[in-house]
Amino acid sequence: MRAAQIDRFGEPDVLKINEVDRPDPGEGEVLVLVESSSVNGHDVIVRSGGLKMVSGRKFPLGTGLDFAGVVVATCPGVDGYRAGDRVWGTVHPRGRHVTGAAAEYVTVPAGRIALAPAGISLSDAASLVVAGTTALIALRDSTRLTSGERVLVRGAAGGVGTAAVQLAHAMGGHVTALARDRYAPALAGLGADRVLGYDAGAEQTGSFDVIVDTVGSDLECHRRRLTRNGRMVTVGLSAFALAAIGLSTVHGSRRIRTFSANPDSALLEDLAGYVASGALRAVVNSVFPLAEIAAAHQAFSRGGILGKHVIAVAA
Ligand SMILES: NC(=O)c1ccc[n+]([C@@H]2O[C@H](COP(=O)([O-])OP(=O)(O)OC[C@H]3O[C@@H](n4cnc5c(N)ncnc54)[C@H](OP(=O)(O)O)[C@@H]3O)[C@@H](O)[C@H]2O)c1
Repeated sequence: MRAAQIDRFGEPDVLKINEVDRPDPGEGEVLVLVESSSVNGHDVIVRSGGLKMVSGRKFPLGTGLDFAGVVVATCPGVDGYRAGDRVWGTVHPRGRHVTGAAAEYVTVPAGRIALAPAGISLSDAASLVVAGTTALIALRDSTRLTSGERVLVRGAAGGVGTAAVQLAHAMGGHVTALARDRYAPALAGLGADRVLGYDAGAEQTGSFDVIVDTVGSDLECHRRRLTRNGRMVTVGLSAFALAAIGLSTVHGSRRIRTFSANPDSALLEDLAGYVASGALRAVVNSVFPLAEIAAAHQAFSRGGILGKHVIAVAA
């Protein structure tokens, strides 16, 4: 089968499409024919060698975390799935396989997948797996947004941001989105009540009960916009972000929270519910064939877009 792999850390041009053996599923695992994957920040950091503790240094190394596809086979210990099911999920970042999700087939434990939402393409589904579950954890589990609260989504035009705007709106939040001016109409269409530029000051934005940051910079400056019982979470991790998170613990419940998303079946089922109800839709900027995955990584790092880059593996 074809799989995107790297044989050293570096710029996007280290990504190659190799012919590799199809993986065999083990007990409790499912073999999935991948239709689409997407590009996430994690892939870019792993590719450039910034996460060696997680990725290891053994080459060739696969790339891609999330996928949507069709079940080909199930092994003993798997209940609830059969060949032909449309599923979405993630491979484990420390998985035992040299292929990531940007490959024609993946094997995954059944606990890492769920039925993909009906009514959307597998391409759109793939764009929502990591971004959507991350936004859901940020709003529901980390900051516990409740209806009527004021929410700020920073980096609102990105993968996590476009999902967070929609989910915050669906949860009854009054949503302020920080993004480039040109995306104001699109973000209003996703449920943002206000869209302000990156550099909007506190006097313009006001204060917030919940802040979801997807950028990872200037965290303390944004934290000051929290109300007395406000909660803030950042998912855009950097050395600066970690320092700000550590220092913020002196502020008790108004500390800056973070997490590393590792979606299980239950979370994916909950996300599918938002899609099924029409509250969450995919925002796909572009679809790259697997052979052009290096260009997809370049486009992701260039930024300046609305939504996600999808990798069409089956094309
Ligand atoms: N912790 C977790 O579990 C987890 C899960 C998923 C993602 N992540 C991380 O979360 C981050 C966001 O992921 P993503 O997939 O949403 O990335 P993304 O699609 O690149 O979105 C990031 C957004 O932030 C915007 N942005 C950049 N600088 C900004 C600034 N100073 N002020 C306001 N907005 C700014 C970008 O806009 P422009 O490109 O137009 O500048 C872009 O729209 C990444 O670092 C990713 O690695 C973490």
